[in-house]
Amino acid sequence: MEANLPKRKETRKSLRIKVISMGNAEVGKSCIIKRYCEKRFVPKYLATIGIDYGVTKVQIRDREIKVNIFDMAGHPFFYEVRNEFYKDTQGVVLVYDVGQKESFDALDGWMAEMKQELGPHGNMENIVFVVCANKIDCTKHRCVDESEGRLWAESRGFLYFETSAQTGEGINEMFQTFYSAIVDLCDNGGKRPTSSMSVGFTKEQADTIRRIRNSKDSWDMLGVKPGATRDEVNKAYRKLAVLLHPDKCMAPGSEDAFKAVVNARTALLKNIK
Ligand code: GTP
Ligand code: MG
Repeated sequence: MEANLPKRKETRKSLRIKVISMGNAEVGKSCIIKRYCEKRFVPKYLATIGIDYGVTKVQIRDREIKVNIFDMAGHPFFYEVRNEFYKDTQGVVLVYDVGQKESFDALDGWMAEMKQELGPHGNMENIVFVVCANKIDCTKHRCVDESEGRLWAESRGFLYFETSAQTGEGINEMFQTFYSAIVDLCDNGGKRPTSSMSVGFTKEQADTIRRIRNSKDSWDMLGVKPGATRDEVNKAYRKLAVLLHPDKCMAPGSEDAFKAVVNARTALLKNIK
């Protein structure tokens, strides 16, 4: 009997939220939204002209959420059109294409554009960001791996999902978690709940893993000058080993970074008398 009771009475006040999509042209922003809202995929590229606007209703726990989605054009040409849409946003879907390194490297630039448009009083701390590593179905062309993307996102307190608008993989899960986090934010007086910010690793660990990934040789990886002594190499190694040891560091990619550091030290010591 109880199951038949009208649900309405229990439903808390409905919410109205604004979300925007951000990321380079052609990474799949519109297709991700279309896949979620219309359950379909369009293989032909139809560039968004300026902004596309849509409204959708979703049910999150006992809440009905009315979502205003502003799907931005990624092309630099449309900067003037999209710049006024950044304000009063509760959530951002930040997308890159896993087969296009430039689109991943551009994420910092998108954050900077938003920050600039929000102005000195704008607060990005209380916006929910979800990073979508999109087009994971194109496995052959993938050049940004999961740990790299996850590290970028989680070190900033952002959600991270691997998605394919083509197959639908990760899309529903991503939106459900994203909207759920926005509801938590609204219930928390518009502040990002602290639990979503504790990621289990430090900024120093995240920065070090990124530096190791981008290092040009073994000297650079250990952070010592070419021609450094055995002692200097060992000292640098020990510092990194303590910081990145997989037992202590939960950051994505820490295991690979740790292995790379061990190998770099071995290679250097072989050649130092
Ligand atoms: P702008 O509107 O110009 O900023 O681009 P966008 O980011 O909205 O890209 P859009 O969604 O229009 O997709 C660009 C192209 O990538 C289209 O040809 C899509 O069919 C294709 N695409 C999008 N998502 C995926 C995906 O997950 N996998 C594959 N294989 N192709 C995708
Ligand atoms: Mg688009």
